[in-house]
Amino acid sequence: MSAENLEFMTQVWSCSLGGDAPLQLDGWLSDDEISHLSALKLPLTAKRFALGRILAKLGIAQLDGGEPKQIQIVTDSLGKPHVAGDGPAISIAHRDHMVIVAVSRAQSIGVDIETMTGAFDVGQLVPIACNPDEAAWVRAPDGGELERLLRLWTLKEAALKCLGQGLRRDPREIAFLCPLGAEPRLGGDPEDMRFAGLDLGQGWLGALAVRGGAPDFQLHDGAALLAAL
Ligand SMILES: CC(C)(COP(=O)(O)OP(=O)(O)OC[C@H]1O[C@@H](n2cnc3c(N)ncnc32)[C@H](O)[C@@H]1OP(=O)(O)O)[C@@H](O)C(=O)NCCC(=O)NCCS
Repeated sequence: MSAENLEFMTQVWSCSLGGDAPLQLDGWLSDDEISHLSALKLPLTAKRFALGRILAKLGIAQLDGGEPKQIQIVTDSLGKPHVAGDGPAISIAHRDHMVIVAVSRAQSIGVDIETMTGAFDVGQLVPIACNPDEAAWVRAPDGGELERLLRLWTLKEAALKCLGQGLRRDPREIAFLCPLGAEPRLGGDPEDMRFAGLDLGQGWLGALAVRGGAPDFQLHDGAALLAAL
């Protein structure tokens, strides 16, 4: 594939927080990001937020060039992050010790991750997340309930981030067609979104939603990006 085609693929970096050592933040965060960080009470949450922003700035610089620390990320009134001025679309997700960021030339993107080791109550989540057809797919009696639910949930949350609405919108409204034995796909194309599953290994599931572009992506090790600093 040519370098030109690669540039039009969404670039995704995943990274584990590593140990308890604090991140070196010198010059990485804007005043707004520092004030957001200081409001986060849990060290895990704070470190994830900071790592997400640093990785996103490094990823944006990979695509656009420039000095990563000079890149400004702003959030709109609903919380969706954007590059200040003219820049690529970005999306960030974290769960437990894992952070994932995506950067793309598409109009808008959304990413989400979940881990199969999380304490999920399938019975409680299905009615909140799924319409009746999706619920029947998740609950097919073959023992794969949790994985199917999380596949669907990551797709829906990626979609809601791509649309910039987050969970203000009822996730049941983003309706997927879920044939048994096949991957879910959006019913019709009312929102002009396309999707890809992210295979993150070791019980981690992820999804990418793309609006105004192809759902092709490249997955990278975020730790390598940080180590190159
Ligand atoms: C967006 C949302 C679905 C994320 O869910 P989550 O599982 O808590 O968190 P994730 O780790 O998957 O994603 C967090 C990232 O989503 C992004 N995000 C937040 N709001 C977003 C929005 N409206 N659109 C797109 N992305 C958004 C942010 O980049 C955030 O990371 P950051 O703060 O480190 O930059 C959720 O926070 C949400 O719906 N927020 C808006 C409504 C709200 O605040 N409701 C209260 C809870 S229902």
